[in-house]
Amino acid sequence: MQLLDGTSCSQQIRQEIAKEVDEIKSNGDRPPHLAAILVGNDGASQNYVAMKARDCDEVGFASTVISMKAAISEKELLDKIADLNADNDIDGFIVQLPLPAHIDEHKVILAIDPKKDVDGFCPENVGNMSLGLPTYLSATPNGIMELFRRYKIETEGKHCVVLGRSNIVGTPMAILLSRNTAPGNATVTIAHSRTEGLKELCRSADILIVAIGKTEFVTADMVKEGAVVIDVGQTRVQDSSKKSGFRNVGDVDFESVKNKCSYITYVTGGVGPMTRASLLQNTLKAYQRR
Ligand code: GUN
Repeated sequence: MQLLDGTSCSQQIRQEIAKEVDEIKSNGDRPPHLAAILVGNDGASQNYVAMKARDCDEVGFASTVISMKAAISEKELLDKIADLNADNDIDGFIVQLPLPAHIDEHKVILAIDPKKDVDGFCPENVGNMSLGLPTYLSATPNGIMELFRRYKIETEGKHCVVLGRSNIVGTPMAILLSRNTAPGNATVTIAHSRTEGLKELCRSADILIVAIGKTEFVTADMVKEGAVVIDVGQTRVQDSSKKSGFRNVGDVDFESVKNKCSYITYVTGGVGPMTRASLLQNTLKAYQRR
């Protein structure tokens, strides 16, 4: 079994981006600028946004974090998005999800100018991705594709089961893997809570991508010998033995599954850093497009 090391892979990507930023700055131009809107005080979201800002620092991007109270109205958030759409100093921005229940996530995503939608969440960018046109690819699926690329994991002709059908991970992941690209050209099945015979289906997967948000859901009996297993799940569970009071648990029971895999990601240092690296790649693209 080989661990897919998202920390070192993302480090490589950040170094590549930092080089480009050095060149930009040495020409006397301003660096790319990413903004992030954070609504409320969910600990995991605060942490993700802080890490995204730290990544920006590391590669030489400018970054702005806009923190808004959980009780803000939908209109206030939409107004802030309109400001960022119009702000010439901002190349791209994200609205960290999930949002408080009183705010319509779809409305928010629709309000983002597709040219600045570096998460690749809005319909125009998802549509372009589906058609294979230049666009911002959704960060998590693209980060996983980058792992396949950098570890030379063959996807062509393989049966890939994507567990989970969310708009930001499962659905775009399935589209990217099935396209006529390298990596890509996989035969993809999307599985979800209503899928029958899930265990057998997962066992038929050469590549199993798990993004269902259920801790340690995938156990060894659901995995084919030699499969590639990618764990997108990251749930905080209380753990009084940790200084923080919690630990992150993935959707895959790593200890039992790891012995059956050819490649596997761990809940930390796997998909998360690759997602953040993709966001940097998209922000650089947004800057270059302007
Ligand atoms: N919440 C979980 N993942 C993501 C992501 O990739 N982008 C945003 N904006 N919110 C998220």
